[in-house]
Amino acid sequence: MKKFTNINDLGGNLPEALKEASEIKKDRFKYAELGRNKTLLMVFFNASLRTRLSTQKAATNLGMNTITLDINQGAWKLETKRNVIMDGDKSEHILEAIPVMGSYCDIIAIRSFAGLENKEEDYTEKILNQFIKYSGRPVISMEAATRHPLQSFADLITIEEYKRTIRPKVVMTWAPHPKALPQAVANSFAEWMNAAGYEFIITHPEGYELDPAFTGNARIEYDHIKALRGADFVYAKNWSAYTDPNYGKVLSTDRKWTVDVRTMGVTNNAYFMHCLPVRRNMIVSDAVIEGPQSLVIPEAANREISAQTVLKRILSNI
Ligand code: CP
Repeated sequence: MKKFTNINDLGGNLPEALKEASEIKKDRFKYAELGRNKTLLMVFFNASLRTRLSTQKAATNLGMNTITLDINQGAWKLETKRNVIMDGDKSEHILEAIPVMGSYCDIIAIRSFAGLENKEEDYTEKILNQFIKYSGRPVISMEAATRHPLQSFADLITIEEYKRTIRPKVVMTWAPHPKALPQAVANSFAEWMNAAGYEFIITHPEGYELDPAFTGNARIEYDHIKALRGADFVYAKNWSAYTDPNYGKVLSTDRKWTVDVRTMGVTNNAYFMHCLPVRRNMIVSDAVIEGPQSLVIPEAANREISAQTVLKRILSNI
């Protein structure tokens, strides 16, 4: 594997990737020599708790050294556009910064969220693609503008571990949030659920339709109670509007969409999932997230496994 920015980079064989992840989980230190004298550079344009810690832990399990750079804390402010007269507050151009970063590592991992101001710029993955083009290193997405594949892989591992039927009913429900959030986690989850072949339903208020390139053949249901009826897994997530002219806007904070005991009551005693961080009593009630069906902690723990599976595959190729 030469990069990991979306599900296709796994080579189209999800069962094989899941098997590999399960073997890694049983013995995290089996390949502790694979990354010896290799360095992972993790570059963050945005905040993180889980991605930062789980990816570093995964790399350490494989014997790698890690370097972390928080671009907004201590690095030069980067210009990302070309043909700009750099007479403002930006001291370094990303086109020099990227190959320099590449020269200090063997694998480079990037977190760069959607700006939510320019849909074309976000959906062409401008920053991520510049790292792929100019770093000279295998690139791993730690959440880019349109996808969060390490999260979706961990979500899939978690569903496989807890599912009670071969083809569970998985419902991704939009839930309210006070700030405009990217569509990346929702896009990515849809992409992975479609590939897994589960019964997959997306529910959200009208106006929150996602890019059909990600939702594919998933059933879209505007009545969330109808969608949640009989669900085996409830995956909650907020996202801002994708469709024009409202791209990046918050259209609703209606708390009837908050996942609570009443909404979970119509499910098939479903497991509750969320990628975290989560705003309690906006996205999900205290009772549900603390309840026996909440998978948020094992789901987060599986981030180490998804990252390690990806790093192992890339290390085997360099
Ligand atoms: N789920 C997730 O990516 O968490 P962080 O933003 O804390 O890394």
